[in-house]
Amino acid sequence: MSIVIIAPNKDLSRWITAFNKADESLDVRIWPETGDQSEITCAVVWGHPAGSLTAFPNLKLICSMGAGVDHVLKDPELPDGVPIVRIVDEGLSFSMSNYVVSAVMYHHRRFDKYLADKKAHIWDQPSPPEVDCRIGIMGFGVLGQEAGRKLKALGFEVFGYSNSRKSVDGIKCFAGEDGLSTFLKQINVLVCLLPATPETKGILNRRLFADMNRGTYLINAARGHHQVANDIIEAIDNGMLSGAFLDVFENEPLPKDHPVWEHPKVFITPHIASITNPDAAAYQIVANYKAMLAGQPLKNKIDRDRGY
Ligand code: NAP
Ligand code: GLV
Repeated sequence: MSIVIIAPNKDLSRWITAFNKADESLDVRIWPETGDQSEITCAVVWGHPAGSLTAFPNLKLICSMGAGVDHVLKDPELPDGVPIVRIVDEGLSFSMSNYVVSAVMYHHRRFDKYLADKKAHIWDQPSPPEVDCRIGIMGFGVLGQEAGRKLKALGFEVFGYSNSRKSVDGIKCFAGEDGLSTFLKQINVLVCLLPATPETKGILNRRLFADMNRGTYLINAARGHHQVANDIIEAIDNGMLSGAFLDVFENEPLPKDHPVWEHPKVFITPHIASITNPDAAAYQIVANYKAMLAGQPLKNKIDRDRGY
């Protein structure tokens, strides 16, 4: 019984050390050097080539190396019935919530304006130095709720939106298609922390923006899958959005000629909002692997039909 890691574009040195630390007796192999494929019972994946999992006839568990599982589910030859688990980790929540707080602060304290003023040698003390922010978090799961709690603790008004209504102290929550429009009307900062599913593809589009308060600020730290880039740029240019803070893009790395590189009202980061810590992840994966071998319940199992 062995584990295979399939992550063609990742540097795996820290992962190998982390698996050894978690349990040095485990047989962990790195794709494509898999040895006898019938011995593999667990695949640990990030961006595995489509169809590559069909090589393992005794596969019993698939583990995403991150919080998202869209990269797993997009494989049209994903073996049927094999459970899929993902990473839920305090460290991931810590980094993501801090990223969201930073993005909100960037807008709230008008750092975009002061950056431009500095370039132009403008000393503008009279202008209001803060933007009033009512923050809506769309995708109010593990990461969204932690970001919401931190923003609430900083004194912001916070709203949550998810498929099923949540109950979080001091945060007004909305759910489902019926709740979306009312949710959008409450806010002037929209944070997207949705999973990438067929339902959420292109959800950050001009129809959604038209339903929001004029001048809402957009923060997307989830997936580029949610964004219609041209609609975002158009909405900023016509004032529907006041700007955007984006960590993720439909194509990554972001193509050199993409218009957001030059757009003064779009702040970008290269998909770094929250990076999996191999030590924490390997520990969880090994725990789930042993649970699978012992026939015990798995932690952080996703629902294939729901897509997250
Ligand atoms: P999660 O715990 O599964 O939360 C997802 C939330 O979205 C849930 O509240 C869910 O509602 C809601 N949701 C799903 N589909 C919806 C829809 N169609 N309409 C409204 N709400 C919907 O996931 P998470 O751990 O917070 O992670 C969220 C995403 O962040 C991941 O999927 C990943 O893509 C992204 N991520 C990005 C980075 C980065 O570095 N940029 C790092 C980690 C994760 P219910 O609770 O009602 O089911
Ligand atoms: C990162 O994007 C993740 O899904 O963990």
